[in-house]
Amino acid sequence: MDFGVPAGSNRGNIVEHPDDRSMTAAATPPTRYTRTAMVLHWIIALLMIANVAMILSVDHLPDDWVRPAVDTHKSIGITVLGLALLRILWRMAHAAPPLPVAYPRWERGIAHAVHILLYLAMLWMPMTGWLHDSAWKDAATHPMYWFGTFEWPRLEWITSVPAKPREMLHDVFGWMHTGGAYVLYGLVFLHVAGALKHQFFDKEKVLKRMFS
Ligand code: HEM
Repeated sequence: MDFGVPAGSNRGNIVEHPDDRSMTAAATPPTRYTRTAMVLHWIIALLMIANVAMILSVDHLPDDWVRPAVDTHKSIGITVLGLALLRILWRMAHAAPPLPVAYPRWERGIAHAVHILLYLAMLWMPMTGWLHDSAWKDAATHPMYWFGTFEWPRLEWITSVPAKPREMLHDVFGWMHTGGAYVLYGLVFLHVAGALKHQFFDKEKVLKRMFS
C-alpha cells in the first residue's frame, strides 16, 4: 500500500514528489486511493492474517477440528487468489497516489520494493498451496469444496504424476509454501513498521489515509 496524499494537501510536509513514477507530464497523478482499492487492501490483509493464524493454531485444535480447519484454510487461500488477481487488475488500471516527498529516496525505494513483493506473495502463497494440495496423496479421496459449496479442482498435470514422484512434488511445494510464509512475515513486518514509523514518529497521518 502506498501512502498517497491529496494534491494541494495542507498536511505539513507531505507533498507529492515530482519524480514519482506515477506522475507524467500528460496526466495528473491521483490524489487518493479509490474506495475499491482500499476495500480490497483490507479484505485481503485480514483474510491472509486469519489464514496464517488458523493454520498455525491447527496443532492445538481438537482432532476432529483439524480437517475442517485445513479445508477452511484452503478455501480462504483460494479466495485470496481471486481477490489478489482482481486487485492487480485494478491496480494496472488505476495509478497509485504518489509517495510523499518527505520520505527519503531510500525509504521510497524500499516501500515500492515491498509493495511489489507483497503483490507477488499474494499470488505465491495461494498458488504454492494449491500445488501442494494437488500433489497430496489423498487428494483423490478428499475432494476440496470451496467453503463446502462447489468442488475446487486439483491441478490435473500434478494429480496425473505417478505416486512416488508426486510425493516428492508434495514436499517441494510444501517447502515453497512454508518458505513463502516466512518471506511474507518479513514483508508484512517492514510494511507495518514503515506505516507506524510515519504515523507515530514522523507525525504524518498515514493510517487515516488508508481508511478514508
Ligand atoms: C492467503 C494464502 C495462504 C497463506 C497466507 C497460507 C499460509 C500457510 C502457512 C503459514 C502454512 C503453515 C506452513 C508451515 O508452518 O509449515 C500453511 C500450510 C498449508 N497450506 Fe496454506 N496458505 C495460503 C493458501 C493456501 C491454499 C490456497 C491452499 C490449498 C488450496 C493451502 C494449503 C495448505 C496446506 C495443505 C498446508 C499444510 C497444512 C497442514 O499442516 O496439514 N494454503 N499455509
